[in-house]
Amino acid sequence: MSARILDGESFAAQIHREAAARATALTRKGIIPGLVFIRVGEDPASRAYVSRKETRAKEAGISSRTLVMPESTSLPVLLKEIDLLNADPKVHGILIQSPLPSPLPNDVVYSRVLPSKDVDGFHPVNFGKLLLGDESGFLPCTPAGILEILRLGGINTRGKHAVVVGRGQIVGRPLAVLLARKSPGADCTVTLAHSSTPDLPSITKQADILIGALGRPLFLTKEHVKPGATVIDVGVNRISDSTNPRGYRLVGDVDFPSVQSIAGAITPNPGGVGPMTIALLLSNTLRAAEDAIR
Ligand code: GUN
Repeated sequence: MSARILDGESFAAQIHREAAARATALTRKGIIPGLVFIRVGEDPASRAYVSRKETRAKEAGISSRTLVMPESTSLPVLLKEIDLLNADPKVHGILIQSPLPSPLPNDVVYSRVLPSKDVDGFHPVNFGKLLLGDESGFLPCTPAGILEILRLGGINTRGKHAVVVGRGQIVGRPLAVLLARKSPGADCTVTLAHSSTPDLPSITKQADILIGALGRPLFLTKEHVKPGATVIDVGVNRISDSTNPRGYRLVGDVDFPSVQSIAGAITPNPGGVGPMTIALLLSNTLRAAEDAIR
């Protein structure tokens, strides 16, 4: 058996088309949706991610730009920039790329963005709304993108056992809450497993839906997977590769060839979760702009 591919690129293309139509409708009303990225430092992966997000946003008709700040940026200087963007009516969404250089405190920085412009869903108000099931908040883009993959991929989630491997703040923790919500496209029984879970395969083999979000290269193999399960790979890990001119290549948390032979459906990586994270960022930004004129 070979698993059905959950093609994130084609699902994302659908969301991008909807985003472009929403951006056109806003522009006709005199509102140009605006998104600003802040990148602190020159982390090569962050440079690539932010540049891709900016390009996609522009393609959808969202006015977007990136504010690049040096690695040595102090907290007061960064907070001042965030305050200026918070006060700018042309800016509907603000995204501060993670990870920040280590001296900058994540909690202080992400809490400074106005919740109504926090299209990343990282602000404690939006995180709290997610926990409460209050749909007026912004959902974090990767977990929301995974729910859309399941929906657009026709995966029945109701009453299914979802095992999320990885308890990170950006993906694992919020995703576990979202999958457990009493709502269409969720309603799962959820297990949140992590690096201290003993005998992980005995847990993951119970999963109807298995999510790899722990950040360990090629960690989940067919030994972890129940035949026919849906497997979603969130990981983006660098491993050294002397045959590659860059000296490394990017791999997910899932050992694709091994797992594909046993799973029922699987996301490719790249081309699975990544494009959906960007697509949901555009949706959140358009909602922020639409809400601003209400
Ligand atoms: N770094 C990795 N994923 C994300 C994301 O979704 N948002 C931001 N701001 N940084 C990230």
